[in-house]
Amino acid sequence: MTGKGLPDPFHVAVIMDGNGRWAKKRFLPRLLGHRAGIKALERTVAAAADMGITHLSVYAFSTENWTRPQKEVTGLMSIFRHSLRKKIEELRRENVRLRFAGAREGLPPDVLELMNESEELTAGNTGLTLVPCLNYGGRREILDAVNSLLRGKPKGSVTERELRDHLYISDLPDPDLIIRTSGEKRLSNFWIWQSAYSELYFTDTLWPDFGRKELEEALSNYKDRERRYGTIGNN
Ligand code: FPP
Repeated sequence: MTGKGLPDPFHVAVIMDGNGRWAKKRFLPRLLGHRAGIKALERTVAAAADMGITHLSVYAFSTENWTRPQKEVTGLMSIFRHSLRKKIEELRRENVRLRFAGAREGLPPDVLELMNESEELTAGNTGLTLVPCLNYGGRREILDAVNSLLRGKPKGSVTERELRDHLYISDLPDPDLIIRTSGEKRLSNFWIWQSAYSELYFTDTLWPDFGRKELEEALSNYKDRERRYGTIGNN
């Protein structure tokens, strides 16, 4: 237990959806929705750390997001670049450890450099681990793991443990709770291996409107559930 009523470790994963619709409702360009999404992320990171969540992963850019209009992709990369530059020092001071999940190939070299730099700078931090998933796809992650295993010692079969050891962050605990905002009810290729026993929570709130209160609601809903991991439970 973390002392705040949550098991240690406790991993919350978030599919931050609805930035575009939030902007559309206000007759604003989509990129302003993404910018408002950064504010929501800042509120959520602060709240997660206070609430004793040990790991927070956020789906920031999927392997499928490259097919969005070029202007939006460039705009999102520019938001990642600026937010990272602006936030690295603050996250370091606040004892947050940054670890990125996703395929490294294909990302702009300066964004990659900022990712490496922020991982190195915060590597010794012991508070919340924040995992932005950038250029992430669950199927791609499994394929990357399988291909990396195939490049190793030849073997007839692979164990679950061996496959896990080749995932992007092999020592990341599986998500206990996956939250998706904006009313959509699917995983969209997020944590496909790791979500086998995750609890799922869906809210109609659009991501830019998400914050402490909404995270508390999700956790309180989670606490009312009984996790069985395939067993028959106590009833
Ligand atoms: C989904 O909304 C949101 C995204 C594709 C991007 C979310 C990214 C951030 C909030 C920034 C994260 C930044 C860092 C540095 C980790 P959507 O565009 O799919 O919304 P819609 O479904 O309403 O169109």
